[in-house]
Amino acid sequence: MKTTAVAPSNIALIKYWGKKDEKLRLPANGSISVNLSNLTTTTTVEFRKDLKKDEVIINGKRDEKKAERVMKHLDRIRKKAKISDYARVVSQNNFPTAGGLASSASGFAALTVAATKAAGLNLSEKELSILARQGSGSACRSIPDGFVEWLDGETSETSHALSLYPPSYWDLAIVVVLAGGEEKSVLTTEGMKRLDTNPFYPIRLSRINEKIKKMKQYLSGKKFEEFGSLVESEALELHAMTLTSSPPIIYWRPKTIKVMKLVQKIRENNVPVYFTIDSGPHVCIICEEKHLKKLLQMLKRQRIKDFIVNKPTIGARLVDGHLF
Ligand code: DP6
Repeated sequence: MKTTAVAPSNIALIKYWGKKDEKLRLPANGSISVNLSNLTTTTTVEFRKDLKKDEVIINGKRDEKKAERVMKHLDRIRKKAKISDYARVVSQNNFPTAGGLASSASGFAALTVAATKAAGLNLSEKELSILARQGSGSACRSIPDGFVEWLDGETSETSHALSLYPPSYWDLAIVVVLAGGEEKSVLTTEGMKRLDTNPFYPIRLSRINEKIKKMKQYLSGKKFEEFGSLVESEALELHAMTLTSSPPIIYWRPKTIKVMKLVQKIRENNVPVYFTIDSGPHVCIICEEKHLKKLLQMLKRQRIKDFIVNKPTIGARLVDGHLF
């Protein structure tokens, strides 16, 4: 059977940075995110008797390194479904990968939903999330809808994501400003390994559960300014971790800093906007929908044109149109 799934990317409000189990991809801490409506991956999968090996085409290209990780994930699914056929996988992002935008969350979420169905499995949201996590940690948060929490479980069965609120819960806009043209320098899996060398990381971990509690409080009360301040300081803390690991990782580019400063300036003009940044140079600016027009005007005034406007959206789902 040929099946196709679409999955959104997600931006972390409380970040996943560090693992307590490398192989199972169990995170060192829980995290919270929101799904992004305009950064999606569509993936079609078909298991076929006539194939001698897996065929993986991502954004029109055969990339050995990316394919290897996809094949490992297909092996997990084959094992679960008790099948041995190889698969043809065609995957397409709706955003330019050349921009270095992370696609592993949407990519592994779409692959998990499409490939499990194609293999004849009918998994629950929780089971899909557990499986997606093993492909790429943050992918487990692209399975449920809207505002999502990834639970800090001690075992594979308890480390999965669930929806805290549906997408319509809060009219937020998330504007992803692109800040550079190349693929990102240090991959997340590698970057996280360097935490072993970081003297500040234990301090981060000792405060993280309090942060998660606060984030949930602000979400529940829709307290935008407290919410935004926490989102922003959490992003800066993630980058404090990368900067103080050994060897250090500087994900920012000049434009990253320009946009961070601009966000602070816009705020001084009484427009409540806040930024967050994952392990790359791009800046996500978050505001309430009612302030989006003003924010876009301000970006235009600074000649910032390379951005993608998102709102919270549903998680990964099966769709009809196949890619081959
Ligand atoms: C900075 O999910 O890409 O975006 O599990 O090693 O594939 P792996 O890592 P990945 O890490 C995402 C890190 C982050 C923060 C976040 O999304 O929570």
